[in-house]
Amino acid sequence: MLNNQFKRHRRLRTSPAMRSLVRETHVTVDDLIYPLFVVEGDNIKNEVPSMPGVFQLSLDYLADEMKEVMELGIKAVMLFGVPEEKDETGTGAFSDHGIVQEATKLIKQEVPDLLVIADTCLCEYTSHGHCGVIEHEDVVNDASLELLAKTAVSQAKAGADIIAPSNMMDGFVIVIRQALDEAGFEQIPIMSYAVKYASAFYGPFRDAADSTPSFGDRKTYQMDPTNRLEALREAESDVDEGADFLIVKPALAYLDIVREVKDNFNLPIVAYNVSGEYAMVKAAAQQGWIDEQAIVMEKLTAMKRAGADLILTYFAKDAATWLQKS
Ligand code: PBG
Repeated sequence: MLNNQFKRHRRLRTSPAMRSLVRETHVTVDDLIYPLFVVEGDNIKNEVPSMPGVFQLSLDYLADEMKEVMELGIKAVMLFGVPEEKDETGTGAFSDHGIVQEATKLIKQEVPDLLVIADTCLCEYTSHGHCGVIEHEDVVNDASLELLAKTAVSQAKAGADIIAPSNMMDGFVIVIRQALDEAGFEQIPIMSYAVKYASAFYGPFRDAADSTPSFGDRKTYQMDPTNRLEALREAESDVDEGADFLIVKPALAYLDIVREVKDNFNLPIVAYNVSGEYAMVKAAAQQGWIDEQAIVMEKLTAMKRAGADLILTYFAKDAATWLQKS
């Protein structure tokens, strides 16, 4: 009999209700983290040219933006700082009145329930745009660690709920963990950019954060895009050093890595849907070439299916809005 010769998979696709019943992967607003660029100065709301819909915001605009984020049900934001002045060692990153510290204080005062994740890096604050201290045109690992630890402690003092080190120096998790503990912040988790590739997908971010390196590139500290085992080594070190979350970045071209990290470690995994991934969708959508909402939701679902527990995405507000309507 024909009926015994093949399986009827289409039975489970016959109606929206049937498809919904057997759906394996769900994106919810609880999965989303919204990255934000906070800038020193007043009355600044600059749209980033390569990231339509993403703005550099001064503090006077921040409270309203945060209320909108809360109303959409988003639970966490990730803060990146854009200082007025930069210097050789990036002192703006660890100043108690730095832009991320001030933004954090404001958010914690205005919308205390919103979680603030502080990106802990130096590249937005250094005159050369690298993520650490430079000697002989090289980024020096251990000297950079000290500054990173200072940055983390000052962010925690300002009220940050989670510290997210992203500069890819070896040992950054343990050094930050120790510094936070010594300063009495043993309850503050570390969301480590454990697996961060040297990727061309960060281009638009560097416009937004004004952090393009003035010489060379980041290939001596960020990972080679061809490597898989190296991702497991990086993640393993961060787990050993005390990380509480592991970020894989970028997301889309690295979904295989998201899956590997998820299968090998038992911490919450965060996929970072980075700036270039956002820019490509926006550009095509502006041309009318794709259905933006459908594409974005498909991508976010793919990240979850690959094993991400959380997604850092510039589409967080859009996705939250669409999810409310669906
Ligand atoms: C800072 C940092 C970068 C991104 C997040 N943190 C830029 C970089 O490493 O060059 C990129 C995020 C994005 O592209 O959306 N080190």
